[in-house]
Amino acid sequence: MKYRNFGRLDFKPSALGFGCMRLPVLNNNSSQIGEAESIRMIRYAIDNGLNYVDTAYGYHGGNSEIVLGKALRDGYREKVAVATKLPTYLLKEQGDAQKYLDEQVSRLDAGKIDFYLLHSLNEPRWEVVRRLDVLGWAEKMLASGVIGHLGFSFHDSARVFRTILDGYDGWEFCQIQYNYLDTQNQAGTEGLQYAASKGLGVVVMEPLRGGALATDPPQQVARLWEEYPVRRTAADWALQWVWNQPEVSLVLSGMTAMKHVVENVQSACRSDVDSLSQDDLGLIERVRDTYRGLQPVPCTSCEYCLPCPQGLDIPRNFALLNQGMMFNRLERSRRTYGRMDQKQRAQSCIECGVCEEKCPQHLPIRELLKDVDRHLRQAP
Ligand SMILES: NC(=O)c1ccc[n+]([C@@H]2O[C@H](COP(=O)([O-])OP(=O)(O)OC[C@H]3O[C@@H](n4cnc5c(N)ncnc54)[C@H](OP(=O)(O)O)[C@@H]3O)[C@@H](O)[C@H]2O)c1
Repeated sequence: MKYRNFGRLDFKPSALGFGCMRLPVLNNNSSQIGEAESIRMIRYAIDNGLNYVDTAYGYHGGNSEIVLGKALRDGYREKVAVATKLPTYLLKEQGDAQKYLDEQVSRLDAGKIDFYLLHSLNEPRWEVVRRLDVLGWAEKMLASGVIGHLGFSFHDSARVFRTILDGYDGWEFCQIQYNYLDTQNQAGTEGLQYAASKGLGVVVMEPLRGGALATDPPQQVARLWEEYPVRRTAADWALQWVWNQPEVSLVLSGMTAMKHVVENVQSACRSDVDSLSQDDLGLIERVRDTYRGLQPVPCTSCEYCLPCPQGLDIPRNFALLNQGMMFNRLERSRRTYGRMDQKQRAQSCIECGVCEEKCPQHLPIRELLKDVDRHLRQAP
């Protein structure tokens, strides 16, 4: 295993961390974790040098923390740093944070929580965190030793990322979505570099875009991989691209099968900062451009179009069509579209055009929403 730096902390994380959000499940039910196999996978990774495991209050219907706790029995707890997350999306009043933390400590049954994150911060949740003085409460938890280090995970724009980073001096680390397609999305490369420049450890999540960059690429992308003289799997290329960057502290992968764990551990062992050549980086740039070219809707998810007077989630509709087309996953997008609240779906557009006046890309949103519905609505 390779080990890296973690901001200003005296901790050397393994290049690969185990994300416990996509453990194998039974009966196609995400709350029913395949416990024996998950424990085998987590322990295999730890036996091979992995020293950081990541979970959260809500993963697998609350069962991820419990199964992770079990995996860490029999001497495994001492070999890893445990990270979990406060469900900021459930906070209503003062006292809630303590209630969730107590429950998490009991579920994990692993003593101290080494790395505690405020889960999935965005602009509205940052407001709640401030209003309920969650940071003041967290400082007491740090002082008492129940948690070791405080950070946050993030899903919003680069602007909001900066606001949150600059809004509190006590952050020690953060967790961002980052992969070769998301360089200008959410925190992006700019956010990664800014956080690192402030001395924070930066944990990367979704390095394979939740798996989309690893399997069954569209023909145009597959050809680029095949024609290149160096052979790697698509997953390995994507992971190496993240590890290539000095500001990244560690990369979390949510591994669903033992073969993923074996492959990703091997990748981590070969990883290093600046290990990719200029030619390699050029290849990944071509792959990125090809994926982007396959996007039918050049929406950047800036959300300027919102709120829609009818309640449509316009960027989400476009993202579903884009992901379906780019990653050969139209069926998956159709299922998700079918499960969306009807008033948020493209089919509920009444063509008032308010969104088009606000779109900085000047997209013909009304026509594009019709395309979304045509491609994604399933026959009744
Ligand atoms: N804080 C937050 O808001 C937040 C949000 C997202 C994630 N996270 C954390 O970050 C972790 C990592 O994110 P992620 O799970 O999205 O990571 P990811 O690595 O982008 O995606 C994981 C998926 O990639 C596929 N995969 C992994 N290794 C592979 C390999 N070697 N070959 C082929 N496919 C492979 C699997 O998908 P298939 O099973 O479909 O093949 C797996 O479920 C999560 O598990 C979670 O702990 C946190």
